[in-house]
Amino acid sequence: MLVPKGFGMKPRFLALALVIPVAGVLFAGTADAATTLGASAAEQGRYFGTAVAAYKLSDTTYANLLRTEFNSVTPENEMKWDATEPSQGTFSYGSADQIVNLAKSQGKKVRGHALAWHSQQPPWAQSLSGTALRNAMVNHVTQVATHYKGQIDSWDVVNEAFADGGSGARRDSNLQRTGNDWIEVAFRAARAADPAAKLCYNDYNTDGQNAKSNAVYAMVQDFKARGVPIDCVGFQSHFNAQSPLPADYQANLQRFANLGVDVQITELDIEGSGTAQANSYAAVVRACLAVTRCNGITVWGIRDSDSWRASGTPLLFDGSGNKKPAYTATLTALNGGTTPTTPPTTTPPTTTPPDPGAGCTASITLNQWNGGFVATVRVTAGSTALSGWTVGVTLPSGAAVTNTWNAQASGTSFSNVGYNGTVAAGGSTEFGFQGTGTGPSATPTCAAR
Ligand code: G3I
Repeated sequence: MLVPKGFGMKPRFLALALVIPVAGVLFAGTADAATTLGASAAEQGRYFGTAVAAYKLSDTTYANLLRTEFNSVTPENEMKWDATEPSQGTFSYGSADQIVNLAKSQGKKVRGHALAWHSQQPPWAQSLSGTALRNAMVNHVTQVATHYKGQIDSWDVVNEAFADGGSGARRDSNLQRTGNDWIEVAFRAARAADPAAKLCYNDYNTDGQNAKSNAVYAMVQDFKARGVPIDCVGFQSHFNAQSPLPADYQANLQRFANLGVDVQITELDIEGSGTAQANSYAAVVRACLAVTRCNGITVWGIRDSDSWRASGTPLLFDGSGNKKPAYTATLTALNGGTTPTTPPTTTPPTTTPPDPGAGCTASITLNQWNGGFVATVRVTAGSTALSGWTVGVTLPSGAAVTNTWNAQASGTSFSNVGYNGTVAAGGSTEFGFQGTGTGPSATPTCAAR
């Protein structure tokens, strides 16, 4: 009875089921609903991302949720002016590169945030003005966008340049005081440096139609009319009791899209809990899905404890990494109202892996690109629990380790850190490292400590 089942399916699967009857059973009932945020969004031609802090990547709960649930990342602070150019002309990309390389190794998009902003400027820039500041800003945009050329899906080129309240004016700032054209100059510099990246203007309190969003709208309209390169508008969407999800959210996204730019929800968080919070998240997702040019949604952190507004519990996972009702509502909305079924449990392998005895074994999974790699190493305990381990890796000549997570590196020898030294008999844990050159091909050694 394949055809009657097909009538309950989403249209894209209906066609497939009719052409390939044998696959019908795969799509019966609700089994076609994807079971992670990123996969569900991808089915809708969107991304679902999160802000990421580099220093949290060694937290396994955080890293696992990031790996499995999201298909886009935004460095939360690591690409800002104070982080990337701490002294004038000296650029520092370590933490941002860590996030970008992890995202690339996991096939995720990267949203760059933020090239030009009145806040989080390094002290040297805060003390500049006039032509010196304008030139420094252009150089900064050019250098950072060039460093990440080809790796960024969308850049927040200019962030939060309009004033709050009813004035519709530009926000006063040192950048604004260099001249009203500073925004378009920043966009032109970004386009010249990375022609493939989408260039966004990003702001908050612009989520509904109001004086501030009207002013941004007029700027985008003017930029489009004059050929200033702008591709997208980011709506931060930080919601709480004082600033709730506006009733005209979707209509506001749509009016910007009608100007010929993409729209993106860039920093979503909604303070609250339970059903009310869940309903608001679902409404945001439905609004984005209803606007063809809405590319995707980024939440501003993974767990409530990761949020800049942690006390408002505004995110999709609780402090322990458990899914909240808001998560389920978001996933269901991404799936067009379909509640996903529990993913099938993995069938255990029919062959027993070789017994490593009382020690441990290690295996490597590599993600390589021309000139670099990310290695994920799995340490498996033998018949006795481990209380510490050391893995030895052989690197081809010319290769070097540049960054390690979930382990302490000493050259090409990696030892456990405080939280992952204890591994139950037969159990396993993972760590990773990133490098330049060609990644290791030999099986690593593993010793219990
Ligand atoms: O890294 C230092 C640490 O060494 C120090 O011990 C600690 C003490 O306060 O501060 C740490 O830096 C903090 C940083 O977050 C990392 O946690 C800064 O003080 C703090 O100011 C910074 O806050 C960030 C904020 O932007 C700054 O404006 C938040 O993490 C970040 O979520 C927030 O993000 C902004 C978006 O960029 C733009 N839209 C609004 C959004 C929320 O404010």
